[in-house]
Amino acid sequence: MQNAHLQPAAYPINLTHKASLIDQQWSPRVVAEMNDYQFKVVRIEGEFIWHSHPETDEAFLVLEGTLRIDLPQGCVHVNPGELYVVPRGVMHRTAAQGEAKLMMIEPRGILNTGHEDDARTAQNDVWI
Ligand code: NI
Repeated sequence: MQNAHLQPAAYPINLTHKASLIDQQWSPRVVAEMNDYQFKVVRIEGEFIWHSHPETDEAFLVLEGTLRIDLPQGCVHVNPGELYVVPRGVMHRTAAQGEAKLMMIEPRGILNTGHEDDARTAQNDVWI
C-alpha cells in the first residue's frame, strides 16, 4: 500500500492531471483509496471487451471526452461531469470515439476485464 493513511494528504488530487500522466491507454492507475475502495483514472480510446464483474458494481465518472457504455439492452453515453454505475453481474463494454479520460470507483482487487482471461487485462493496483 502506498499511503500510510496516518497523515492527511497535503494536496488534493487533480484527476484530469493524473490521467494525463498515464503513458498508455486502457491502463487504470490508482489515485486514492477509501476503506476497501479504490479510485482509479484511465485514458481510453476505441472499444474494450465485453465482460462483467459478478462480485461488484462498477462506477464511471467522466473527466474528459465521451464514454459509451454498451449494455445488453443498448448503450449509454456519459459526458464530462456525469456518473454511471454498472450493476454487479451486468455485461458491459466501455468505448470512446477519440480519447476519453475517466475515473473508476471499485473495490480493491477488481480486474479491468472481470473474469475474462484476455490480453487486455491490466496489471492491478498500480498507483500514479
Ligand atoms: Ni468493467
